[in-house]
Parts: sequence; C-alpha cells; structure tokens
Amino acid sequence: MSNKEQTLSIIKPDAVERDLIEEIKNIFIQNKLAIKDSKKIHISKDEAADFYKVHQSKPFYNDLCSYLSSGPIVVMILEGENAISLNRKIMGATDPKNADENTIRKLYGISIDKNSVHGSDSQTNAKKEIDFFFKN
Ligand code: CMP
Repeated sequence: MSNKEQTLSIIKPDAVERDLIEEIKNIFIQNKLAIKDSKKIHISKDEAADFYKVHQSKPFYNDLCSYLSSGPIVVMILEGENAISLNRKIMGATDPKNADENTIRKLYGISIDKNSVHGSDSQTNAKKEIDFFFKN
C-alpha cells in the first residue's frame, strides 16, 4: 500500500556556508524525495528557540538556537513514499561520527551541532514543522 508523506528538511548554516545546497538537494532527488517547496531564509534566535522548543530542557538548547540563527538556512518540504523515515535514513545518525557511509551527515557533517541537516522525526512533528515555516 502506498504511504505518501511530507517531511520538513533544513539545510543548516554549516552546509549553506560551504555551498552544499545543490549537492544535498540532489541526494534527496536521487533517493525519490521530491522537493515540493524550498526557501532560503535567515531566522532570529527567538524563531529558532520556538522551532526547537521540544528541546528546551536540554543542556544544548541555547547553543542549538544560537547556531540555527547564525546564518542562512534552506527549509524544504520533501514528499515521497515513507518520506519521514526515508529522509532520516538518508541523513544518517545525529552525530556524524556515528552516521553510516554515504549518508548526508557522514559526507558533510562536521560535529553533532554542525551536522548539516535537520529532518522531522514523526508525522506529528512533520506537520508542525512544515506549518512553522510554510503556513502563511
Ligand atoms: P537536529 O536533528 O536538528 O535536532 C536537534 C539538534 O540538536 C540535533 O540535530 C543536533 O545538531 C543538536 N544537538 C546538539 N547536541 C546534541 C545532543 N547531545 N544530542 C542530540 N542532539 C544534539
């Protein structure tokens, strides 16, 4: 049975800064994730704090919000069969050190903070995160 889903992907400041936008978009396309919408934006620290509020109790929260607002990012709606889990597989483990070969984070990630991409982790969060950036 088909299970077409949408998920939110972010190309983080470390990857935008290194001109990796097209390389990363091509990896999604090659893996049958269509890019339904995409925009390059630069968010404030308050907006980053709102986006990442599920992590507000974590010790890394402040640094995480500073980092996501430190430079331009690309936010995208990806669509395809099992898009949420497929995107997470393509990204690889959160810490690039633990990511499988040929995943985006293994190829391009610098550290657990500068890990090049974000992807929604569940259907509920995918909907929330897409609405956060794309609902007018
Ligand atoms: P992301 O998928 O964007 O979701 C939250 C981010 O917090 C995560 O990627 C990492 O870049 C960052 N982070 C920093 N430290 C940690 C940590 N110890 N565990 C998980 N995520 C972390």
